[in-house]
Amino acid sequence: MRRINKRKTAGTRTKKSFWTKLPRPFFVLAPMANVTDCVFRGLFAKYGKPDVTWTEFVSADGLVSAGGKRLLIDLKYSPKERPIVAQLFTGHPDKMFEAARLIRKLKFDGLDINMGCPDRAVEKQGGGSALIKSPRVAIEVLNAARRGWAYGSASALISENNLKDGMNVPVSVKTRLGYNQVDFGWIRLLLEQNLPALTVHLRTRKEMSDVPAHWEVMPEIVKMRDEIQNDRPVSERTLIIGNGDVGSLEEAVEKTVKYGCDGVMIGRGIFGKPWFFEEIGQIRKMRHLKSHIGHVVRPNQYILKDILNQTDDRTPRERLKIMLEHARLFDKEFCGRKRVKNFAVMKKHFKAYVSGWDGTKELRAELMETENYREVKKIVENYIRNRVD
Ligand SMILES: Cc1cc2nc3c(=O)[nH]c(=O)nc-3n(C[C@H](O)[C@H](O)[C@H](O)COP(=O)(O)O)c2cc1C
Repeated sequence: MRRINKRKTAGTRTKKSFWTKLPRPFFVLAPMANVTDCVFRGLFAKYGKPDVTWTEFVSADGLVSAGGKRLLIDLKYSPKERPIVAQLFTGHPDKMFEAARLIRKLKFDGLDINMGCPDRAVEKQGGGSALIKSPRVAIEVLNAARRGWAYGSASALISENNLKDGMNVPVSVKTRLGYNQVDFGWIRLLLEQNLPALTVHLRTRKEMSDVPAHWEVMPEIVKMRDEIQNDRPVSERTLIIGNGDVGSLEEAVEKTVKYGCDGVMIGRGIFGKPWFFEEIGQIRKMRHLKSHIGHVVRPNQYILKDILNQTDDRTPRERLKIMLEHARLFDKEFCGRKRVKNFAVMKKHFKAYVSGWDGTKELRAELMETENYREVKKIVENYIRNRVD
């Protein structure tokens, strides 16, 4: 590992990370493997941009291995998605160091470490949720990521002091509440690391996604953060992002109001809705939310309901049009000569787009049989001609 020259770097200031500039509350797109690929994320950038976008997770070990190039497709992004964070998983600090250098080189705005994925294959490699059971390794992985990020390019020289204060390095963590049970000791340990942001999926590893998210523990996490970091101004403390079971932007705003977190991450709620975040701008205009820098926001719930018209007012025709665009771009990006993804990946998207109006069952069944964009187009155009007003 390269040692830094203290004399040369003394007093060098790092650029403030994007995390310090986010409005609050803020709303972010969850990383979802085989869902939030560059094509889908591109549609969010077009139809309703989240405040922060995550890539799908990528194996740090794989990325720095001889065949690492083939994983770069999962890290492809367009500048329109900024700020964009790459998510990596590993249980090996040395691999994380190398991978973090690469992420920095790829000009991501930040790097997020997955410490919550329950997938057996990920856990077997010591990554994801396995790190909850190995807190010492988790901190080593985190520090390796910070070093990799900070020393990844010559212009990134920073002092040891700054590095210790991780707030200046945009390396964040996404985790769960614990392994077999809620484990405040684990959350405390992470909050002691001065992360710029911590996303908590409000379930334990054991609970997978089988129980409702425990939003009720969020105030305890926020309180813990404030106790641990009470020597900093409120606006400079670790941003706490709550995650789990949020189905609309309105619900996301309500969560920040009720539970005091700084941001909300939305996963499954965005399926079939690349316009999910389109009303973020409207929220910003709300006086009470706009002035929110600490924790307490008290928007008028009735105004909120008026402004946010989340009971999806898109017509079937509009939904199908965007679905077609999605299928076309997916086919073009991933299913060409190199065939990096199977077109069958689109089927979960079809199910999500084609729902919410009468007579969708037949159309969905037809779409499940398709193998490329051409077939989808034919079916959808025929449906629109005959069935949609
Ligand atoms: C299909 C799918 C893929 C996922 N992939 C990832 C991933 O790559 N990285 C990660 O940290 N979490 C991943 N998750 C978890 C989500 O980011 C999120 O934490 C979880 O779905 C709970 O949020 P929700 O209730 O809003 O969906 C995935 C979830 C789903 C459903």
